[in-house]
Amino acid sequence: MKKLNNKLSVILLLLLTSCAQLRDSAPPARPWMNASLSPDARADLLMAQMTRQEKLALVTGFWGSPSPDYTPPALARHGSAGFVPGIARLGIPPQWQTDAGIGVAQQRSVQEKITRTALPSGLAVAATWNPEAAFQGGAMIGDEARASGLNVQLAGGVNLLREPRNGRNFEYGGEDPLLAGVMVGAAVRGIQSNYILSTIKHFAFNDQETERKSYNAVIDEGAARMSDLLAFQIALEQSHAGAVMCSYNRVNGDYACSNDGLLNGILKKDWGFPGYVMSDWGATHGPEDAARGLDQNTGVDGDALDLFGKRLADAMAAGTVPPARLDDMGRRILRSMFAVGLFEHPVTTDQGDIDFKSHELVSQRTAEESMVLLKNDQNLLPLAANIRSIAVIGGHANGGVLSGGGSSQVYPRGGNAVPGLKPTSWPVVYNPSSPLAAIRAHAPGAEVRYDAGTDIRRSARAARKAQAAVVFVTQWASESQDVSLDLGTHQNALVRAVAKANPRTIVVLETGGPVLLPWRSQVKAIVEAWYPGTRGGAAIAKVLFGDVNPSGRLPATFPASLSQLPRPQLQGGTVQYAEGAAVGYKWFAAHQLQPAFPFGFGLSYTTFTHSALAARVEGDALHVTFQARNIGKRAGRDVAQVYVAPVRGGWEAPRRLAGWRKFDLAPGAGMNAGITIDPRLLATYDTTAHAWRIAAGDYRLLLGTSSQDLPQSVTVTLAERTLKGP
Ligand code: BGC
Repeated sequence: MKKLNNKLSVILLLLLTSCAQLRDSAPPARPWMNASLSPDARADLLMAQMTRQEKLALVTGFWGSPSPDYTPPALARHGSAGFVPGIARLGIPPQWQTDAGIGVAQQRSVQEKITRTALPSGLAVAATWNPEAAFQGGAMIGDEARASGLNVQLAGGVNLLREPRNGRNFEYGGEDPLLAGVMVGAAVRGIQSNYILSTIKHFAFNDQETERKSYNAVIDEGAARMSDLLAFQIALEQSHAGAVMCSYNRVNGDYACSNDGLLNGILKKDWGFPGYVMSDWGATHGPEDAARGLDQNTGVDGDALDLFGKRLADAMAAGTVPPARLDDMGRRILRSMFAVGLFEHPVTTDQGDIDFKSHELVSQRTAEESMVLLKNDQNLLPLAANIRSIAVIGGHANGGVLSGGGSSQVYPRGGNAVPGLKPTSWPVVYNPSSPLAAIRAHAPGAEVRYDAGTDIRRSARAARKAQAAVVFVTQWASESQDVSLDLGTHQNALVRAVAKANPRTIVVLETGGPVLLPWRSQVKAIVEAWYPGTRGGAAIAKVLFGDVNPSGRLPATFPASLSQLPRPQLQGGTVQYAEGAAVGYKWFAAHQLQPAFPFGFGLSYTTFTHSALAARVEGDALHVTFQARNIGKRAGRDVAQVYVAPVRGGWEAPRRLAGWRKFDLAPGAGMNAGITIDPRLLATYDTTAHAWRIAAGDYRLLLGTSSQDLPQSVTVTLAERTLKGP
């Protein structure tokens, strides 16, 4: 027994010694991995361990995809947009960056296409006016990014729709800073809920693609703060995005990524943005941009672009960039990586299981909620399931639904439904969700004929024979080029001819943004379906047949003509933003212009009324309450909108959107709602005092269904006040 005890003691001793040895030989503790510390404290601890070379490595990102004369670093994920090497010694994960806000996109240069779920376009998501839908869409993207081994999503496009011809409007959140900021902010929050870091972009005033790498947006500071910058500010507050991507263009003379006032002044100092600024791909102009607020030079695919490597080191040695900046740059990057959870939740290369079925449903529901019923004379819609015959015409409706082109292009599962279309600058991709097939499924007893719409006379004949005609009209838009708002002679003539042949003609639009609808008085029904994503065809049919009661509202004004725009001609070079903060409906109201369809507009298959509008000031807060009711026969979703208008004027426009509520209402049901107004929407930005100021006086709160239909009003008196925040 004694012998046994002795043996046990020896084993115990051996065990204890080897444990102690293990402890001694273990790698040094990594105190920055203590998740109970703040992201700032963790970043500080980690920075203290880094060599200068390592810090320099963190501030440069490479292009992620191979090309004939460029091979990305070995660990980059081919097909992705960018890659920042990790530092294994310290456990810093690589940053695998990819586009963007519509889904996990793959770069066109790579042939083996990564296929993922596409949401409807960003503008469509904004048209839902439902931040929860935007969040769910973002969460879906974040999940697919994670499963694809990508941990930085170049999403969050929130440039205001100031120029309706901007080829990238489909990626953004519309023309109003509150709507765009809230909706894009919610989407980014959704992405980051998967511990995937997201950008907000393109900072700032990248409002057109014409001469995007050189044009100079000229706007005074007050107007800037009350328009595009407010959208960015709100989106950042809502999302805590880890990064901001600065844009290609110039703002008041300086390139956005070399813009001290924008980056150091407004973003970092005034707004207290704790994250990092990354350049758009190739938007860095020199190592000195680091002194002006740029933290990461991204998209490097050759020596010429490697401005934040040796050249930054030289600039710091020469004193043109303060040496302390390198620590600040690195700290900001690491801080965001800690804050979002990139250290604790690493991504892996194995593709994991993507739950495509449920993701497609997220996309479809968003599409259903985004569609805007622009016109519905004599309640032509919804179509009855027992309709006898339908002519479906044009828009490749037999194949699928259109998507927007460019770096945000998501390649769909099942492949491009309409391959080989021109232009080929970026590929034109149709999601393989056929509206024709979905229409057939909704009306099994009907004769549903498809006509491609190429021969107008033949299309008119097909329309004449059917009980109803549905014409699909498309306009492709993409990054790096702007569009005309004109749908083209052929499509316009097609709609006119079909409408003449069949009085029950419905037009379904698949466009990136506003377009001119010169034939709008000649057709009975118009549905704006945007770029409706992976399950767009199914969503369109549900709206046409009333399984879904449309509840999208326009996030942008549809002008009646180009002459109504602040710049009837697209400009390059110096673009004077003469409209200032009067973007979209604000411009139209300020100049008493009647658009084709106003901001906020959208019909339903039921009718809502609003009443009991009241406003009260409590301390510094302005609360608005009201009641909404569904007085029709179908369940539906109301979007009740509150605008604010200073009685004595003095703003950029007569009124601004101040808040909204979207709710489901059964027939006959009512709902009480309350909104607390963001004080910045009651104020103007005083550039001398560098503060938001509310002027004393009477303000009308207006309630209704669009920026032009605001029958309820109540007046409150506000005291003069300077807001405390930025
Ligand atoms: C676009 C960005 C995009 C980047 C990487 C640029 O051309 O402007 O939005 O994130 O490429 O693909």
